[in-house]
Amino acid sequence: MALSAHKLLLLLLPLLLCQSKAKGNTCSDCFTQSSAAYYPNSDKEGTETGACEYGTFGATLNGGDVSAASNLYRNGVGCGACYQVRCTDAKYCSTDGVTIVITDLGASGNTDFILSQHAFARMGQNADAGASLVSLGVVGIEYRRVSCSYPNKNITFKIDQSSNLYYFAFQIWYQQGNKDITAVQLCETDNLTCKLLERSHGAVWAVASPPRGPLSVRMLLSGGVDGDETWVVPPNNIPQNWTAGDIYDSGIQV
Ligand SMILES: *[C@@H]1O[C@H](CO)[C@@H](O)[C@H](O)[C@H]1NC(C)=O
Ligand SMILES: *[C@@H]1O[C@H](CO)[C@@H](O)[C@H](O)[C@H]1NC(C)=O
Ligand SMILES: *[C@@H]1O[C@H](CO)[C@@H](O)[C@H](O)[C@H]1NC(C)=O
Repeated sequence: MALSAHKLLLLLLPLLLCQSKAKGNTCSDCFTQSSAAYYPNSDKEGTETGACEYGTFGATLNGGDVSAASNLYRNGVGCGACYQVRCTDAKYCSTDGVTIVITDLGASGNTDFILSQHAFARMGQNADAGASLVSLGVVGIEYRRVSCSYPNKNITFKIDQSSNLYYFAFQIWYQQGNKDITAVQLCETDNLTCKLLERSHGAVWAVASPPRGPLSVRMLLSGGVDGDETWVVPPNNIPQNWTAGDIYDSGIQV
C-alpha cells in the first residue's frame, strides 16, 4: 500500500512541476511590484495635457482614473492601455485598488505610474484612507495589465484638428480588451488602395497625402493573453466629407 502511494507520487511529481512551470511562464495574472506617485493638485482628475494627446477626452476618460507611465508608455503604444494598480500598505489599501488608463508619459523617481489624484485616492479602503495615501505622496504598489471596458461604446475615430487634404491624423478611442493597436491602414473603398499610417506621437496615427473618398480603417491588434495578431475592419467608414475635429462611430467593438 505504502509502495503504491510512493509510486503514485513519483508519477505525479513531474506533472506537478510542469504545471507550476507553465503557470510561471504565462503568468498573465501576475502583479509586478513598483511604486506610484500622483499629479499635483492642478490635475485632480484626468489631464488634458497628456503626451498621448487625448486633449479634453483625456480629462474625462475612465471617470478621471488615468495615469502617466514611464516604461509602460512604450513610445505611445501604451496609450489607452489599462492597468489594475493597488497599493500594498494593508493599513490603507483596498484589495482591488483602481483600474487606470494610460494617457501620458512621465516618471517621478523610480515610479512606473503617476496617477491622477482621483485614481491615487481610490486605492484606499475608503475616503479617509485615500486621503492618508495622498498625504504620503509616493506609495509602494503592484500592478498588472487588465482589459479595458467601455460599456455602450463602440471604437471611435477622432479626426485630429491638424488634418487637411494633404495630411491626415486621427486617434482611436474606446478600444476594449488588453491588446495593443500596432498598425493602422487607411483604404480607399473604391479601389481598395491602402496606406500604412505611422504612430506620429502619443495615440495619434498620421499619414501624408491620405487616400480620397470614404475611408475604410484597418487596425492590427497585437499582444494580450493569447498573443495573437488580428486585423480588425470596422463596418463604418470615415465619410468622404470628414471634418477636422469630428468624431465617427466605427460600428464595432472588440
Ligand atoms: C486608386 O488609388 C490610387 C492611389 O491612391 C489613386 O491614385 C487612384 O486615383 C485611385 N483610382 C481610382 C479609380 O479611384
Ligand atoms: C456629410 O455627408 C453626409 C451624407 O453623406 C451628410 O449627412 C452630412 O451632413 C455631411 N456632413 C458635412 C459636415 O457636410
Ligand atoms: C455600435 O455599433 C453598432 C453596430 O454598427 C450599432 O448598432 C450601435 O448603435 C453602436 N453603439 C453605439 C453606442 O454607438
